[in-house]
Amino acid sequence: MEITNVTEYEAIAKEKLPKMIYDYFASGAEDQWTLKENRNAFSRILFRPRILIDVSKIDMTTTVLGFKISMPIMIAPTSMQKMAHPEGEYAVARAASAAGTIMTLSTLATSSVEEVASTGPGIRFFQLYVFKDRNVVAQLVRRAERAGFKAIALTVDTPRLGRREAVIKNRFSLPPFLTLKNFEGLDLGKIDRSNDSGLASYIADQIDQSLSWKDVKWLQTITSLPILLKGVLTAEDTRLAIQNGAAGIIVSNHGARQLDYVPATIMALEEVVKAAQGRVPVFLDGGIRRGTDVFKALALGASGIFIGRPVIYSLAAEGEAGVRKALQMLHDEFELTMALSGCRSLNEITRDHIKTEWDPVR
Ligand code: FNR
Repeated sequence: MEITNVTEYEAIAKEKLPKMIYDYFASGAEDQWTLKENRNAFSRILFRPRILIDVSKIDMTTTVLGFKISMPIMIAPTSMQKMAHPEGEYAVARAASAAGTIMTLSTLATSSVEEVASTGPGIRFFQLYVFKDRNVVAQLVRRAERAGFKAIALTVDTPRLGRREAVIKNRFSLPPFLTLKNFEGLDLGKIDRSNDSGLASYIADQIDQSLSWKDVKWLQTITSLPILLKGVLTAEDTRLAIQNGAAGIIVSNHGARQLDYVPATIMALEEVVKAAQGRVPVFLDGGIRRGTDVFKALALGASGIFIGRPVIYSLAAEGEAGVRKALQMLHDEFELTMALSGCRSLNEITRDHIKTEWDPVR
């Protein structure tokens, strides 16, 4: 049967993947309240479409940190994509560049920055976890720069890993034939490299719980790449992010995998946008599954959005072709939403094109 929306890929992935792997991708933290809320919150926002506007031409292009892309839909970093499909990050990188958009590669990828770069041209960001050993961090950043990555997305919501109970129950470990490729050749001290799941848990243990604002400053001394802070949910932290030199903000709750009972990202977005006062772009990820979701995020002030699980599920189902199709479906849905709302370009999308449950009655 023909696939007509990105959500349908989840059922296919669930059927195809071993339970341990599917659960790793799908799960959220603890009660998974935020996981459901990331989706549910979009249904509290309705459209106020404008009519009788010539929408025969729709321009969805935009510029992110100075890079022109085909649409405001980008790819979030997700770890270990070769667990979904043997071509993993290669397939995702190729699909992103075919779609003319940005891929963010995870620190915890099963392909290295160099390998992803070797798939061909494309605009790519590197997601960074900061480890206790700052030499490792410096080496990762340098390699990402050399491999042509254009920005660092520093993940700031993970001083410790959230409790994903399905993962704990399944005693998840990285399948032995896969490696966290960005760490190959790095001096990680004395660890048992004969066992790759040992490497995975070792690396999780190496995440620096003391990470703080001074490290955001430090990062700017070792790289000239722009730094996006990924995982901001409040106005207070938005102001601090700007003061500390962030080039942009990603409103994210890590796909609901970290602190449960934080709001859906779409609910937190407007607070962050207001606090940013247009000084840096604000992006969003979490629960985007439809073109209408993309439009709602832009109407609330996002400059663009990122998708996580839809990429993994479409990759698991159909490899590169699946990811291409997922991006195409979101592209087409978003274009249709723009046309039916009377918006011909992204800057015509305004707050008045939506109403939310929390808006005062007009
Ligand atoms: C993630 N995410 C994530 N974030 C990050 O900064 N580094 C990482 O390595 C990962 N890994 C990862 C693995 C898996 C399986 C998931 C589902 C998520 C979070 C990711 O970048 C993004 O914030 C969310 O996935 C967005 O939500 P949706 O689109 O999955 O609902």
